[in-house]
Amino acid sequence: AFVVLENCIKCKYTDCVEVCPVDCFYEGPNFLVIHPDECIDCALCEPECPAEAILSEDEIPADQIDFIELNAELAEVWPNITEQKDPLPEADEQNGVPGKREALER
Ligand code: SF4
Ligand code: F3S
Repeated sequence: AFVVLENCIKCKYTDCVEVCPVDCFYEGPNFLVIHPDECIDCALCEPECPAEAILSEDEIPADQIDFIELNAELAEVWPNITEQKDPLPEADEQNGVPGKREALER
């Protein structure tokens, strides 16, 4: 499956949602996740993310390996999102800022 990583936090551009053929994105307050059992590995979302926050699970950097489990966990509790919406107001300022995982809201 593909996985949403730390740099989505506080950005949530949602360009990814628009291209997913199986609608497997789930939305929290300031982050999205992909449901690993629903993702068909089409790779369409990866180049769409302005924050470059989506990678295949076999390409995740070691320091973000826990995001595999985090996506699986939160996809079970957050609501499905199927249409693009406006990014968070601070998205462009927050794109690329390190250490955003502390700011993840559930
Ligand atoms: Fe959806 Fe394809 Fe991205 Fe998986 S890889 S989340 S199926 S767009
Ligand atoms: Fe997040 Fe990128 Fe989608 S910032 S909401 S993974 S387009």
